[in-house]
Amino acid sequence: MGRGPRLVLLGRQGAGKGTQAQLLADNYGVEHLSTGDLFRAAAAEGTSAGLEAKRFMDAGELVPDATVIRVVEDRFTGDFLNRGFVLDGFPRTLPQAEELHRVLDGHPLDLALDLEVPTEIVLRRIAGRRVCEKCGATYHVDMPPATEGVCDSCGGRVVQRDDDTEEAVQRRLELYEQETVPIIDFYCNLGKLSAVDGIGETDDVFKRLVDQVEQHFDPQSP
Ligand code: AP5
Ligand code: MG
Ligand code: ZN
Repeated sequence: MGRGPRLVLLGRQGAGKGTQAQLLADNYGVEHLSTGDLFRAAAAEGTSAGLEAKRFMDAGELVPDATVIRVVEDRFTGDFLNRGFVLDGFPRTLPQAEELHRVLDGHPLDLALDLEVPTEIVLRRIAGRRVCEKCGATYHVDMPPATEGVCDSCGGRVVQRDDDTEEAVQRRLELYEQETVPIIDFYCNLGKLSAVDGIGETDDVFKRLVDQVEQHFDPQSP
């Protein structure tokens, strides 16, 4: 028995990070940490930090780095680092990537997986996306839950995201190019980057990701 992998999923909005992060986390028995899901849950609870984050999110803007880092760092306990994890939506700016690198001291990342999907395809995926309000499970009008509007995993309401409007999506994609693309180089320079074709059936994309993890991850490494 060794540990689980420590993974970061990169990719533009709608590339399938949430979908694949959940599958990878289930497959390896590690935690799926999505900053978008954390902020949506905080907003739904109505905490002041959650409501502040929601203003940025609904406009398609990034939540300020200091807020994101504060929220995420609470999760990086020794147990979390030792068991392994899949990060989805974090890091998304260079300062966040540098902060993560610092926090992971002694528990190096195994791989940053960049899900490559062109803009015209992500726009179609986002237009049809539906999510569970309660647990964040992701669906699509072409891949709906068994009962319409009801989450298969938790029975929560399945709805459209407030930030999946045309204007917010345009802004999110712009910010991806400006703020998140530089992270790809950051992980490439660390020798930790694997680019994976994110086009095709969900199961096929998942097999490609697992294939990369198997090639780069040693469960016996520290
Ligand atoms: P976040 O929730 O992370 O949203 P995002 O980055 O815009 O990414 P998405 O969730 O839109 O896409 P995804 O890649 O997860 O795709 P999915 O699997 O759903 O962040 C939201 C906001 O929070 C940000 O804009 C920002 O304001 C804030 N925030 C969060 N983290 C932050 C941070 N670190 N710093 C600053 N601000 C932060 O798939 C999309 C659709 O396609 C689904 O319907 C799915 O069913 C479908 N699909 C998936 N795979 C396939 C396939 N292979 N074939 C066909 N359809 C597919
Ligand atoms: Mg997501
Ligand atoms: Zn649910």
